[in-house]
Amino acid sequence: MIQIPYVEPVFRPPSEAYSLILQVTIGCSWNNCTFCEMYTQPQKRFRFKPIEKIEQELAAIVAQGLPVRRIFLADGDAMTLSFRRLKLIMQAINRYLPGIQRVSSYCLPRNLKNKTVAELAELNEMGLSLFYVGCESGDDLVLERVNKGETFDSSLAALQKIKAAGAKSSVMILNGMGGRKYSEQHAVNSARLMSAAQPEFLSTLVVSFPAGVARYQQGFGGEFEALDQAGLFQEMYWLLDNLELDKTVFRSDHASNYLVLKGSLGRDKPRLLKTVRAALEQPGSVRLRQEWMRGL
Ligand SMILES: C[S@@+](CC[C@H](N)C(=O)[O-])C[C@H]1O[C@@H](n2cnc3c(N)ncnc32)[C@H](O)[C@@H]1O
Ligand code: SF4
Repeated sequence: MIQIPYVEPVFRPPSEAYSLILQVTIGCSWNNCTFCEMYTQPQKRFRFKPIEKIEQELAAIVAQGLPVRRIFLADGDAMTLSFRRLKLIMQAINRYLPGIQRVSSYCLPRNLKNKTVAELAELNEMGLSLFYVGCESGDDLVLERVNKGETFDSSLAALQKIKAAGAKSSVMILNGMGGRKYSEQHAVNSARLMSAAQPEFLSTLVVSFPAGVARYQQGFGGEFEALDQAGLFQEMYWLLDNLELDKTVFRSDHASNYLVLKGSLGRDKPRLLKTVRAALEQPGSVRLRQEWMRGL
């Protein structure tokens, strides 16, 4: 096993389960979304890891001779690093692991504001080719309520930049995020954002509050009413129904989801809508994930 001195806990997308996790930053540079508790512990105070330390870790990995094909750059938004620093990291990765196939990272839309398409294309050439973007919603009011610090326009601009650079994006949208009051507008505007951006991958997670809902409620002035299962399915129906995607891999199979959905959109839209309608109209006819199996 590779021994790397991680600052725990470390999070990664489910699809990076077999990747080497290279922690090039600690924590999240924003750390203000009211639903997210991932980087709130004191040891996760945001900072960069010095390039010399990253090189030492790469050298230790190479010394163990284990095959590394994919790397995920942790923690919460490694793309906040400057182009200069990211280029140094990618140069080091290519030097130590010349066979590397893909490097990916979480990415906030604002991380790309000061990076040009040419810079992103250069990083893409070096292997940094997939960005996990937590858009969470395409609805400006919901984004404001949860203090995401992003908008429909800022999210779209970032996704378009990624595409223009020849890289890929994998977007996360949070089911239930607007509560009952904003459920429909959250779904419709999230679909509008995705249709405009045409990401290569789209996944939905159900918003949950392992540390309690109090902080989240503040943003909603105490009016947040969590969706029950039927409400979550109805919102998913609105989302799918409004999506106009050409070729996006869609996954709603994260452990937080009750209803597992997978397909390619637009091709599988009728099938997925049928499944959600069945879950809504004939409870018991579609297998759901049990509460005890759910998690973040
Ligand atoms: C570790 S975060 C990093 C993503 C990156 N910082 C961003 O915001 O784009 C990955 C994703 O986990 C999801 N997440 C975080 N807290 C959550 C919660 N309480 N419930 C459900 N999903 C959550 C969000 O979709 C978030 O984008
Ligand atoms: S969702 Fe992303 S940007 Fe928001 S606090 Fe969590 S890690 Fe940071």
